[in-house]
Amino acid sequence: MQSRYDEVYARSLAQPEQFWAEAAEAVNWTKSWNRVLDFDRAPFARWFVGAELNTCHNVLDRHVEGGRGDQIALIHDSPVTGNKIRKLTYREMRDLAARFAGALARHGVTRGDRVLIYMPMVPEAVIAMLGCARIGAVHSVVFGGFAAPELAARIDDATPKLIVWASCGIEVNRVIPYKPMIDEAIRLAAHKPGACLLVQRLEQRAEPVKGRDHDWDEEIARATPHECVPVAATDPLYVLYTSGTTGKPKGIVRDNGGHMVALNWSMRNVYDMRPGETFWAASDIGWVVGHSFIVYGPLSYGCTSILYEGKPVGTPDAGAYWRLIAEHGVKTMFTAPTAFRAIRREDPNATHLAKHDLSRFEVLFLAGERTDPDTLVWAQQTLQRPVYDHWWQTESGWPMGANCAGLGPLPVKPGSPTKAVPGYRIEVLGEDGKPTTPETIGPIVVKLPLPPGCLPTLWNNDEGCRRAYFEQYPGYYSTGDAGYIDRDGYLYVMSRTDDVINVAGHRLSTGAMEEVLAKHRDVAEAAVIGVADSLKGQVPLGFVVLKAGANRPHEEIVRELVQLVREQIGPVAAFKQATVVERLPKTRSGKILRGIMRKIADAVPYAAPATIDDPAILGEIATALKAIGYAGARS
Ligand code: COA
Ligand code: AMP
Repeated sequence: MQSRYDEVYARSLAQPEQFWAEAAEAVNWTKSWNRVLDFDRAPFARWFVGAELNTCHNVLDRHVEGGRGDQIALIHDSPVTGNKIRKLTYREMRDLAARFAGALARHGVTRGDRVLIYMPMVPEAVIAMLGCARIGAVHSVVFGGFAAPELAARIDDATPKLIVWASCGIEVNRVIPYKPMIDEAIRLAAHKPGACLLVQRLEQRAEPVKGRDHDWDEEIARATPHECVPVAATDPLYVLYTSGTTGKPKGIVRDNGGHMVALNWSMRNVYDMRPGETFWAASDIGWVVGHSFIVYGPLSYGCTSILYEGKPVGTPDAGAYWRLIAEHGVKTMFTAPTAFRAIRREDPNATHLAKHDLSRFEVLFLAGERTDPDTLVWAQQTLQRPVYDHWWQTESGWPMGANCAGLGPLPVKPGSPTKAVPGYRIEVLGEDGKPTTPETIGPIVVKLPLPPGCLPTLWNNDEGCRRAYFEQYPGYYSTGDAGYIDRDGYLYVMSRTDDVINVAGHRLSTGAMEEVLAKHRDVAEAAVIGVADSLKGQVPLGFVVLKAGANRPHEEIVRELVQLVREQIGPVAAFKQATVVERLPKTRSGKILRGIMRKIADAVPYAAPATIDDPAILGEIATALKAIGYAGARS
């Protein structure tokens, strides 16, 4: 099929308002807009101004009313709880979301109030999200792998009226009680929620705090179902925190109207889905991928979505993904490359594949980190299906660079997520801040205004948003990624320009880890870098300089540092290694040369900058790295 990409892309840039107004016809509105785009407060853009809708109506009620009531909306497939599978129809989801919304209302939660959700991958988490959307409350989901202080920081920023939590999460080898984390986070936070709703899981119940925790089942049973409340298209649907350069996470806001339009459009045009088909994003609802492509995208488009509580390997084996695809008739799957590296490592010849019928499976999308060509080729050859890398971030909420399968795919170039998605004018800038020539590496930016669905701002922090994304390159949104565009217009996303690292598809801040290390009583100074890892893409590695007089064994201190990061940030940080050094390499103005340390660790040739304070330190760093198993590069 001849791809329509070029024509559609050109139109999206030439007539953005007309383009998105047409796309908006796929959404149910209770009131139409006065203006498609309001860019009067540039750099901030607002889409569908004056319009009203309800997101929960768009993802549930309208499908029930349109005849999909008995279609399965959500499949909870949970090998970690003994292969439990629970299927919920659109009607059941609507009824549960309406009851949950009623329970929220009973606790005084109304439009605009925040509700924090700290839950594992269970249907109740999705019901909670949709119940919030139903009454116009703003949800903020926090990933279960974050520790209490991270949770507390989010409680203080979002100031939720209510928290929904579950008694435990389940990892491959252990049950994780959530109570200690919830109790500690509420203790640490200055803001206290009015109430909590607690989902008791059979695997481990939690002792409720009297007067604070209300039982989910009882609340749902007694609740009066709540109708959908129309909200402004520009009202916030959710706040999702993501890592930035500093230890303080950024509260990415998502609106209701632009979000619905963008996700509906991408289900068809990026992922080539049709209503009634099954879409599976193997991610977690705590990440943006889970928000957009487990919950809001597939459901708004009338698809069946899968909520997978398991891993690519170990639950029980490297054939888990193939089982799910076959058993649930998945047409399109989305996961992170790291998951395929994990499968390949355990089953290089994909012997498990032969046991499953993948005849309904058509295409695999990968994102969350760059798909290395080796993994791409292995996935293509193993699955004998198209495999598309695509690139986006929490801030965008939906793909920015992709092979738009629904528009007719373009030829794949390994290492590239293909081209800019319609709506995004993506450019790479040179040192003069102007678009650079093809094949030249530089910061990747998006010309303003951003299309619908992208962050309108940061929660309660317009100024922070301006500083983080719009200030450095006026007229552009700064993605924080660097790369280049080739002569055919293909984009290559190579690295971050800030101190964010990507561990197993999870975005983490080295700055946050440095702040934790610096709190240790023996540490004078710390630096954390992301080093290459064959499974997770990157893993963090810490360097610490000890205070004078700190003379305890280094192994003991390193053990404590690893434990400290686990307690303060969470196991998801995967911080497992650190080393003690005499000094850190710095420029004469005192800036730590993390980039060079990373090159030494990854055995990549480097050149010491002219501004380095003392080049001899680089040799010391190489020696320290060798001592913990890193080859080390030469200048
Ligand atoms: N709650 C509590 N702890 C969690 C958690 C959660 N929701 N999710 C992860 N953790 C813990 C893990 O148990 C692990 O702890 P450990 O240090 O005691 O082993 C740690 O956090 C790191 O987890 P993870 O990054 O998942 O590493 P892993 O070694 O357990 O698994 C992969 C590696 C590749 C199998 C895994 O990262 C994976 O499945 N990735 C899929 C990609 C994905 O989901 N990407 C999201 C964006 S699309
Ligand atoms: P997150 O906000 O957690 O989704 O992380 C977004 C970041 O992950 C991006 O800014 C990139 O640095 C990285 N990323 C995501 N997808 C890709 C991809 N396909 N190629 C390269 N980097 C990616």
